[in-house]
Amino acid sequence: MNAADARVLLTGASGGIGQAAAQALQQAGARIMGVGRSAAPAPGGMAWVRADLTTPAGLSAVTEAAADWGANVLVHAAGAPCFGPLGAVPPTQLQAVLQANLLAPMLLTQRLLPHLLRQPHAQVVFVGSALGRIGLPGFSVYGASKAGLHGFAEALRRELNGTSVRVQILGPRSTRTAFNHPAVEVYNHETGTAMDRPEAVAAALLALIESGAAERFLGFPERLAVRLNGLLGALLDGSFVKHRRSLPTVPLQPVSRGTPS
Ligand SMILES: NC(=O)c1ccc[n+]([C@@H]2O[C@H](COP(=O)([O-])OP(=O)(O)OC[C@H]3O[C@@H](n4cnc5c(N)ncnc54)[C@H](OP(=O)(O)O)[C@@H]3O)[C@@H](O)[C@H]2O)c1
Repeated sequence: MNAADARVLLTGASGGIGQAAAQALQQAGARIMGVGRSAAPAPGGMAWVRADLTTPAGLSAVTEAAADWGANVLVHAAGAPCFGPLGAVPPTQLQAVLQANLLAPMLLTQRLLPHLLRQPHAQVVFVGSALGRIGLPGFSVYGASKAGLHGFAEALRRELNGTSVRVQILGPRSTRTAFNHPAVEVYNHETGTAMDRPEAVAAALLALIESGAAERFLGFPERLAVRLNGLLGALLDGSFVKHRRSLPTVPLQPVSRGTPS
């Protein structure tokens, strides 16, 4: 769909990728309704729903507001990070990450789908990750959440084939936002992993929406790695010594991002 025809419900709109996406989409003529637990970022120029997507009340508020507003594109860009060896991840964090990255987008899609199916054309875009298609040491929990999202999106795309709703997935690689703990930047540096600017992810999202393609992954080495991993996954298992050595050995202390205003 042309951006100018899009009324986009954008979750994660207060985040690094979400703010860049809102700006790119607005510049291309789309209208945006953002969602976040925080207040709308300034300067906004978008409608805003303040809600926690991991709660039934938050899901209801967002669904109702989006349907009343006439959303025809749903972009799931909200998400929670998780990095470190499995033994260092508190079980509460493990559950919270699956709740935010997998269950919340599944439930929001399910709730908004009847409305989207009534639109002449509609799109649902999941912001997944290269780590949803290639498992890396230190990202077992996060990778599981994104692999689940990729599986959900693929099946739903086929289920909705022939309807007015197109399902798409965007696979960013590591991106410079507050999402990544400084320990991830160290890991990326030591393993030679490139990091994109959020504006590059936003441009890819806009191109994905306008093209209607099923999926788009960012970064050539990551696209190749995703392909190879799909074909020869177990043969790559010995290739991650550097990644294992670059893992933190103690649980990570959260970095303060300020309280939601
Ligand atoms: N940064 C990367 O390296 C990278 C790479 C690949 C994929 N991704 C994916 O890209 C998406 C955006 O990442 P980002 O880098 O922009 O992260 P970010 O800057 O940390 O932003 C995360 C966003 O998710 C929202 N959010 C989190 N939990 C929520 C909840 N329970 N209810 C409502 N909103 C919630 C946050 O809003 P509030 O805090 O206002 O609630 C914020 O807008 C995520 O899905 C992430 O997994 C990121």
